[in-house]
Amino acid sequence: MDRIRIVGGNELNGRIPISGAKNAALPLMIASLLTDDTLTLENVPHLADVEQLIRILGNHGVDYSVNGRRERQSEGYSRTIHFTARHIVDTTAPYELVSKMRASFWVIGPLLARMGVARVSLPGGCAIGTRPVDLFIDGLQALSAEIDIDSGYVVAKAPKGGLVGNRYVFPKVSVGATHVLLMAASLARGETVLVNAAREPEVVNLADCLNAMGAKISGAGTSTITIEGVDALSGARHAVIPDRIETGTYAMAVAMTGGDVILENARPDLLQNALRVLEQTGAEIIPVNSGIRVRRNGAGISPVDVSTEPFPGFPTDLQAQFMGLMTMANGRSTITETIFENRFMHVQELARLGARITLSGQTAHVEGVPVLKGAPVMATDLRASVSLVIAGLAAEGETTVSRVYHLDRGFERLEEKLSGCGATIERISG
Ligand code: EPZ
Repeated sequence: MDRIRIVGGNELNGRIPISGAKNAALPLMIASLLTDDTLTLENVPHLADVEQLIRILGNHGVDYSVNGRRERQSEGYSRTIHFTARHIVDTTAPYELVSKMRASFWVIGPLLARMGVARVSLPGGCAIGTRPVDLFIDGLQALSAEIDIDSGYVVAKAPKGGLVGNRYVFPKVSVGATHVLLMAASLARGETVLVNAAREPEVVNLADCLNAMGAKISGAGTSTITIEGVDALSGARHAVIPDRIETGTYAMAVAMTGGDVILENARPDLLQNALRVLEQTGAEIIPVNSGIRVRRNGAGISPVDVSTEPFPGFPTDLQAQFMGLMTMANGRSTITETIFENRFMHVQELARLGARITLSGQTAHVEGVPVLKGAPVMATDLRASVSLVIAGLAAEGETTVSRVYHLDRGFERLEEKLSGCGATIERISG
């Protein structure tokens, strides 16, 4: 299995191109199931999760071509991909596929809306928590779907004549359930009002795409979204937003190692909270024409307390990386995880590098240390893995991060982007 080898201690200087956002690309790709026309997505990142979703969509009958070619494009960063679901050939999403990638459960929305029926495997828990699907079920039932759980599958049926618009109040903010109800309600009869909807930029990106396809959605980006159902959606051309989590990750890397990096194509408006927190730690954040410039001189890292929150709060997907940064702060900080119940797997691994962290419930107390020392580490999810990479860049000596497949799910050309800025980092095969 591949590993990443890092020799820490170098500052980062240069430019890093920010890719299209994984978590925006996935729901946009799933939206292609809503129409028999071609949906063209620009700026799709080249990631394992994207390739996996292409396979899953293929199972339902979605054909794709990359920049006009059928084969995979191995060169170049983010790509333009055309998705065409001319005929839906299967309305079942099997366990073998859904269990590999949780977001593939979201096909339930468009399949149900377009075909009147969907049979989608329950995704099961995952490393960061139990992650139930009750909100999807409640929300789709609010649109008059009939839902049964049968042998590990959610079996959803729309009434004759299709789903019916309604008002639905999310008891808890959920990005995925908001995506699914947006897609389903776009083809429902009448008006749907979603209250306490997720406000994440990825939801806005999806709503903009659906509107380009002919949907009538207003209010995306606020907590109340109104959808006027239409009879059919058409094809469209739409761009995936830049990845705010990749942006924040590299910004935290620079804040930790020191240096001066321009994050090209990054959009500061997508992560204002995290950038403000980074400034409080002593990093300089300068919006520039081509993106965001992040600078930190030799001065120490100030400790800052954070608590993860739904957007526009501090993102849970940057919690592990921020903890990496805080391990070398001049003092104590507390980091509280409020979104997922088990998202501290990086703590024990950061400890292997010399970090001093204690956990009490959902809060980590971090006591900054002056130096980290390289060590072999591994992690069980994507963001935890990258927090170890960041810490390895700042640590003295050699760090090897195993289970690189987690990183490949969400970070496009990580080693290349970092070594281009002076990091000593390489992939070791086998
Ligand atoms: C999305 O997951 C992201 N995934 C996650 O990124 C991200 O951490 C999360 O949103 C929160 O921002 C993708 O976009 C593909 P949720 P999602 O539904 O939609 C609970 C990464 O590293 N909940 O907003 O699955 C749930 O258990 C990933 O890229 C229910 O209780 O997250 C969690 O505690 C990891 N019932 C909370 O809501 C439900 O029916 C928020 O989850 C659904 C969710």
